Amino acid sequence: MKYNFDEIVPRQGTDCYKYEGLMDLCGRTDVLPLWVADMDFRTPPFVTEAISRRLGQGILGYTCGMMSYKEAICRWVKRLHGMDITPDMVSYVPGVVSGIFLALQTFTEKGDKVLIQQPVYHPFRLVPEATGRIVVQNELRRTADSFEMDFDALRRDIQGCKLMILCNPHNPAGICWSRETLQRVASICAEAGVKVVSDEIHCDMVLTGHEHVPFATVSEEARDIAITLQAPSKTFNMPGIVCSHAIVLNEALRKAYFSYIEGTDQDLGNVFAYDCARACYTDEGDEWRQQMLAYVEENIDYLAEALPRVCPAIKMIRPEASFLVFLDCRAMGLSHAELEDFFINKARLALNSGAMFGTLGEGYMRLNVGCPRSTVEQAVKQLAEAYRTTDFTDYAD
Ligand SMILES: Cc1ncc(COP(=O)(O)O)c(C=O)c1O
Repeated sequence: MKYNFDEIVPRQGTDCYKYEGLMDLCGRTDVLPLWVADMDFRTPPFVTEAISRRLGQGILGYTCGMMSYKEAICRWVKRLHGMDITPDMVSYVPGVVSGIFLALQTFTEKGDKVLIQQPVYHPFRLVPEATGRIVVQNELRRTADSFEMDFDALRRDIQGCKLMILCNPHNPAGICWSRETLQRVASICAEAGVKVVSDEIHCDMVLTGHEHVPFATVSEEARDIAITLQAPSKTFNMPGIVCSHAIVLNEALRKAYFSYIEGTDQDLGNVFAYDCARACYTDEGDEWRQQMLAYVEENIDYLAEALPRVCPAIKMIRPEASFLVFLDCRAMGLSHAELEDFFINKARLALNSGAMFGTLGEGYMRLNVGCPRSTVEQAVKQLAEAYRTTDFTDYAD
């Protein structure tokens, strides 16, 4: 490997949310942080070099998303996902969550219903709630080893909604939705007159044997109702740069959304944003991406081998994309509050509580394996020891 993903890059004392937020999350700081969805790998050198070049120019002035930025995005989505788009279909948005906010502002009003599919990335609920929309919680259905969509429930719940927020690939369960599933979502939403914001931030991190299908490409219906949100930020470990983009194929939808984005001055990235995106969406970027994913996949293999051995009641949902692993801990027989207590106070591990993703996430915890192998090994060691020494039949005592 050209890049060293084993390297420990110290993050304490650097305003790093994963560390600074520990007291709020866990009530203590002597825990191993495996929560916030950024990676502990060094941001790739071609990104930091692009920033250095920009700094060297000497003026940190207003900067705009040049044609070359949008062309780089077009080439990238064609290369990775076979998606044919032109630069006019692309707009910078500050973040994917901001893109969701901007879509809510453009296409819905206060009091309108917005459908999400829980368990799901919590801002899908928080942003509509904060803007006075009514959140309709369509539930995914548990399968033996993951989750799937329940189309009858979706058809029922979508009635009266204005917008659906889709997570594709899905966070926290790491599912790459199939073309057939997405076609059914498109036809249900089109029939109900509902637009779909497809959050595809994890789409460039598909793992072996799986495929990302962009929602907007599955049918004519999908094309006409889709607002796609993507970013180089997760894949290339630079969410602090704040650089995402929207792709809208339908002209009327695009006019409405992009003019709201421009009118509210949200299409202006910071001085580093476009350089960073351009640096990632290259051959060199793709090489780094593939090496990073191979490493993450080995972390997942390590967990898959270790967990049944050291804590058999914890079942891992093997992610099909990205570096987040959803752990089904229901067989431990603990209440959700006890489960959180076990991870924090017994195993001394800071994971994301499954409950934050919705009621269906109770009994689950989300573990971030975008980190050096030694961190995953340390986590398994702490978990094994806590599991071995805890009396689960009488946990409260
Ligand atoms: C599904 C999903 N969407 C959006 C985000 C955040 O995106 P941004 O930082 O661009 O707002 C995350 C981060 O974890 C995520 O998992």
